[in-house]
Amino acid sequence: MSTQIYINDVGPRDGLQNQDKILSPEQRLSLIVALEAAGLDGVEVGAFVSPKAVPAMAGTDLICQQLPSSDCHFSALIPNMKGFELAQQNKLKLASLVMAASNTMNEKNIRMDNQQTLTMVSQVLKAAKNTDVNLQVYLATAWECPFEGAISEQAVIDLASQLFDLGAFRLVIADTIGAANPKSVKSLMQKLTAHFDSDLFACHFHDTRAMGLANAYAALQAGVRRFDASIAGLGGCPFAPGASGNVATEDLVMMCEQMGYQTGISMPKLLDASDLAIQLTQTATGGNAKPWLRKQYPNSG
Ligand code: COA
Ligand code: ZN
Repeated sequence: MSTQIYINDVGPRDGLQNQDKILSPEQRLSLIVALEAAGLDGVEVGAFVSPKAVPAMAGTDLICQQLPSSDCHFSALIPNMKGFELAQQNKLKLASLVMAASNTMNEKNIRMDNQQTLTMVSQVLKAAKNTDVNLQVYLATAWECPFEGAISEQAVIDLASQLFDLGAFRLVIADTIGAANPKSVKSLMQKLTAHFDSDLFACHFHDTRAMGLANAYAALQAGVRRFDASIAGLGGCPFAPGASGNVATEDLVMMCEQMGYQTGISMPKLLDASDLAIQLTQTATGGNAKPWLRKQYPNSG
């Protein structure tokens, strides 16, 4: 199997959407530019969502207009057709349509039940065909929902099958509240990668119970090579009680590289981006390995 790992940093979206302190589009852009410079395969630059629902993501259009030209896969989260149209107008090549595996989470997050969500998703996927926007679908709360509890593997497999039939470019299987464990991750991801090509999946882990990195390792063993992570361990969902930060990009890159995988990411530059995330938010920690990593790569400034 390939030893190349593709990491998408969701800090500028998943991270900043959940902060009390709202950053300006310029500040958010400075973090995105630092992440691009570190060699991330992808950066989620914001969200085209209602600014009333998530005030911290207002101005994502301004950010899109100033993105550096780069091979980095810049994307934005979208919750509906309007979000897709905005992503397209703002010339993004990748958009992330979010839906949850559970009914209540869809109602809380995007104000639609599962059936309405699937209808909306199929309309947006149809609209995206023959455009130059690739649409990946986030399956949030894929292991556990904060309102409904455990999600059955079969429900996720059935949804995955429906979403690929509808034309999803990729699925991001998300543990939105950080409730999965390595056994449940390996089990679900092995079943999904047995049914579908492993390159069609990415995994998104929150570190609420300190199992984010272990879960990423379990997904690696199941053949997954694409991961979301968040600079400095930022992250969380305002609509999912208990969701804390994502697995920190610094920690994930360190683990992958030490195990002999390649991420294409410069650790010194990633640590600079991490310092910037901490400075901008005043809340991020920098992940678990940051003090050790900084000793290996002392701050040049
Ligand atoms: N981008 C920007 N604005 C949008 C929008 C989008 N994708 N979709 C709807 N809106 C605006 C509408 O134009 C309307 O504006 P107005 O009040 O000025 O007329 C307002 O939002 C309400 O529209 P409506 O269709 O009634 O939406 P709603 O109130 O039922 O809310 C969502 C639905 C999906 C727009 C909202 O819940 C949302 O943005 N959720 C995002 C959740 C999120 O980001 N979660 C974190 C990530 S998992
Ligand atoms: Zn998340």
